Amino acid sequence: MSTTASLPTTTLGAGGPLIGTQGLGCMGMSEFYGESDPAESWATLERALELGVTLFDTADVYGAGHNEEFLSEFVRAHRDDLLIATKFGIVRKADDPAFRGFDNSPGYIRASVDASLRRLGVDAIDLYYMHRRDPLVPIEDTVGVMAELVAAGKVRALGLSEVTGDELRAAHAVHPIAAVQSEWSLFSRDVERTAVPAAAELGVTFVPYSPLGRGFLTGAFQSAGELDQSDFRRFQPRFTGENAAHNAELLAPLAAIGEAHGISRAQVALAWVHARAAVHDLAVVPIPGTRKRSRLAENVAAATTRLSAEELATLEPIAGQVAGTRYADMTFTSAGRE
Ligand SMILES: NC(=O)c1ccc[n+]([C@@H]2O[C@H](COP(=O)([O-])OP(=O)(O)OC[C@H]3O[C@@H](n4cnc5c(N)ncnc54)[C@H](OP(=O)(O)O)[C@@H]3O)[C@@H](O)[C@H]2O)c1
Repeated sequence: MSTTASLPTTTLGAGGPLIGTQGLGCMGMSEFYGESDPAESWATLERALELGVTLFDTADVYGAGHNEEFLSEFVRAHRDDLLIATKFGIVRKADDPAFRGFDNSPGYIRASVDASLRRLGVDAIDLYYMHRRDPLVPIEDTVGVMAELVAAGKVRALGLSEVTGDELRAAHAVHPIAAVQSEWSLFSRDVERTAVPAAAELGVTFVPYSPLGRGFLTGAFQSAGELDQSDFRRFQPRFTGENAAHNAELLAPLAAIGEAHGISRAQVALAWVHARAAVHDLAVVPIPGTRKRSRLAENVAAATTRLSAEELATLEPIAGQVAGTRYADMTFTSAGRE
């Protein structure tokens, strides 16, 4: 795996391959955050690799398979220089955009990995995540099936998304878990209670998703009303109505620190994630999502930006004051199997 001087490196799980300390979230290239320009998305992928990004993140549900297909050519062109991470476990319905079902049954997992391999056009997935826990399936059973995929050579390393510390420990006892991917940002710090300490204890790499608060922390938008009609964030409680106005005010310290350093708010938000990981003595690879080369370069630079103890103290109270939940009250079921 080649790396550049632009990004420092860490390992993916204990004894895993060396990867750049920031990855690229590719979800927005297919869905959720309004219209994309495929040519600029493609150029962003190429630039990311040049800047030392090695972990590229997708999932089978992003654009209902489109995101994996979009990444296929890029991944195959640079197969030895990057890691592709994808996920299974969330089931959606074409006629009900708000529906989210979870399925971790053995047959579903086995069919999902084959479908992802086909869409990506690769022989093996470098990092395969359970996207969400299915309440009907014990996590030990899920990881047992995932371990079979490793033995079969279809998957190289295992990851879990949105698990608690106890779930991670139970899973890790079945098969080594290389990475946990969960939302972690200045606005979303629940993971620091159990998942982060467990990951640090077990040597599991943490992959913070939505480290820019889905873009809100950057100041790029102040409320959901400014976004495209199709934008997923229009339905998220933190970005609508009075919550959005309240939450935008919480960003004043972020803006002030950015001005003092001559850096962007996005960079402050990312530098904060790296600083928190250091407090927990934890390897992290945040995966900010962008479809633009200019923003990519900005985000990569943040991996080596250091905030002072005083600045971190100013940012400390923000998460506790955020109004609104992370997700709207979507239908979360066991894919209609209960
Ligand atoms: N495991 C899970 O359940 C889960 C859930 C959500 C996401 N994810 C993964 O995590 C990745 C990142 O999360 P995310 O995309 O939801 O949120 P994010 O990284 O917090 O924010 C992405 C948003 O911020 C904008 N942005 C990026 N860099 C910026 C900058 N420097 N200045 C201003 N705006 C900037 C992006 O717009 P542009 O694209 O236009 O630049 C996009 O709208 C996703 O791509 C996906 O792979 C995983």
